[in-house]
Parts: sequence; structure tokens; C-alpha cells
Amino acid sequence: MKSDTGQKKREQMEFQDEYAETLRDYAMGGGEAVLGRAYELGRRAIAEPKSLLELVSLHHKVLKELFQNSVDRGSPGQLVQISCDFLSECVSPYEMAQRGFQDAVKALRQLNETLEEEIKRIAYSVHDEAGQLLVAVHLALANLALELPPGRKEQVREIEGLLNEVEKHLRRYSHELRPTILDDLGWIPAIRFLAEGISKRANLPIHIEAKFSGRLPGTVETTLYRVVQEALTNAVKHAKAKNVWIRAWLKDRVLHCAIRDDGAGFDAQAAQAATGRKGLGLIAMRERLSAIGGTLWIESSQRSGTELSIRLPMEDDHVN
Ligand SMILES: Nc1ncnc2c1ncn2[C@@H]1O[C@H](COP(=O)(O)OP(=O)(O)OP(=O)(O)O)[C@@H](O)[C@H]1O
Ligand SMILES: [Mg+2]
Repeated sequence: MKSDTGQKKREQMEFQDEYAETLRDYAMGGGEAVLGRAYELGRRAIAEPKSLLELVSLHHKVLKELFQNSVDRGSPGQLVQISCDFLSECVSPYEMAQRGFQDAVKALRQLNETLEEEIKRIAYSVHDEAGQLLVAVHLALANLALELPPGRKEQVREIEGLLNEVEKHLRRYSHELRPTILDDLGWIPAIRFLAEGISKRANLPIHIEAKFSGRLPGTVETTLYRVVQEALTNAVKHAKAKNVWIRAWLKDRVLHCAIRDDGAGFDAQAAQAATGRKGLGLIAMRERLSAIGGTLWIESSQRSGTELSIRLPMEDDHVN
């Protein structure tokens, strides 16, 4: 009963006061039980949320007060050691959260790799299986044409013309879905190929300025391709833009890529909030980038359209 009341009291206390009281109790010889409270304080700090820097600076402040008030269980060195143990216990939930985050990033990477494999499979089956079916339809039509009177053969030729168009489009879509250029020549040529197709289909000029020509690891190139692909899809689908500009450059070991349109703009914050979210594109872009250590910044307004800025710190071997 008594400990319940103590718990309630602690919950109502300001974080700072509770931290000071708990550290004082520990310095006075509170032992393991108080260390348990330090751990709980760490959990509360994460939930509030408090940054690690805030926590450390609070710790310093409280420790200084302890010195000033001569709360002493021995030499100053012992008090510093005690406070160190206390702080370590308090930050251990941060360590666990960090490990959880690393696990989540790893799982996300694996998920993206599985997704890429699936996309590859679909792209190949659209290309090969649908292509073979179309060849079979061509053959069947050619056989049919043999039995038709000359006047009806023209109709078959028209159908063949339409089938050729279908085949051309299917080939184009399957290449865009998983361009072989991406593996062979890299993400910039792959984006040029994608932009060319979208530009023609949507009658939308897409200007590309790339000041980066090196190759990057496969997962990074695929991620960049997917993110730009979604940005272009959004520019066509939502922005009603007249132009799109894609720029890529390297500065201070950070790869930048910006995709800007001069379209309708939107409320980026609302679109990404859990409640107002309409689709998955923006969130997927962010998650894909975060899995490779990159970030996405979106700026949008009705006046000037939308700009997506990708920032990706490079590892040393990829900047030369
Ligand atoms: N370039 C843009 N211009 C104008 N509005 C945009 C642009 N990009 C995104 N939006 C707005 O943000 C919303 C969320 O975009 P998001 O890509 O997450 O989903 P979606 O495109 O609607 O669906 P999905 O990508 O899942 O097919 C869109 O519905 C649209 O209203
Ligand atoms: Mg979208």
C-alpha cells in the first residue's frame, strides 16, 4: 500500500525533481531498489520524450547540487562513481531502444530486398510470359488470315497493329518496373530511361541535371530509383505539373537528389500524419531511405509546387 502511494507520488512529480530525488536516494545508499527506479526514469525520459543530451545535462545539474549540498557517502570520487552507475542505469533503456531501432532497420532492409525480388519476378513474367502469349496470338491470327477472303485480311492486319502496340507498352512497363539499366549502368541512366517514358506518356517535360556519375551499392541505387519513381508518379498523378526537375549532386560526402514540380502543391505535414494519410507512397519513400541511412525532406506550397529533397551520407569508398 505504502509503495503504491509512493509510486503515484512519483508519477505526479516533475521529471527533473524525481531525477534529483532518486539520485539523492541512491547516493545515500539506496542500493538496487533505487537503481530500478533509475531504469524506470530512463523509460519515462524516452516516452516524454527527452533527448539523451537533455538527460545528461540534467544529470550534471543534479550532481552539482549534490556536491553543493554535501550529500556525501564518502569521497567526491565515490560520489562521482555512484552517480555514473546511476546514469548508466538510466540511459540503458536508450541503448535498448537503439538496438530495437537497428533491428527494425535490418528487418526493413530485408523486406525491401524481398519486395525487389518480387518486383523482378513480376517484371520478368510480364516481359517473357505475356510476350510469349502475344507471339502465340500473332501466329493464330496469321493462320486465321490464311483462311479469310482478301477483303477481310486488312482487318487482321489492324488487329496485328494493335497487338504490336500492346507488346511495345508491355515491354516498356516491364523495363521500367525493374530496368536492367539499373544493374548495368546505374541509377542515373535508369532514371533517365524512366523519365523519358513518363514524359512521353504524360506529356510532361522532365529536366534532369546529374552531377554524379559514380556507381553505388545495388540496394542504394535501387532505393534511389524507387524513390524517384514514386516522386514522378505523384507529380503526374496529383500535381498536374507543367514541368519536373530532377537534380543530383554530391557535396561534402553527402549525396543530394531533389525532385521538384511546378504543380498544385499540397499540405505535406497533413498528408504524412497518421490520421490524414491517403496513400503509402510518401511513407514508403521515407522508410526505404531510412533503411539505407538517408532522409527525405518535403517542401510544398500552392504557389511554388513541391520539392522532395533526398540526403544520403556516403561511405568513404563511394565518393571517389
Ligand atoms: N507532387 C505532389 N503534388 C501534389 N500533391 C501531392 C504530391 N505528392 C503527393 N501529394 C499528395 O500527398 C498524398 C499522399 O501521397 P502518397 O504518394 O503517399 O499517396 P498516393 O499517391 O495518394 O497513393 P499511393 O502512392 O499509395 O499510390 C497524395 O494523395 C496527394 O494528395
Ligand atoms: Mg503516391
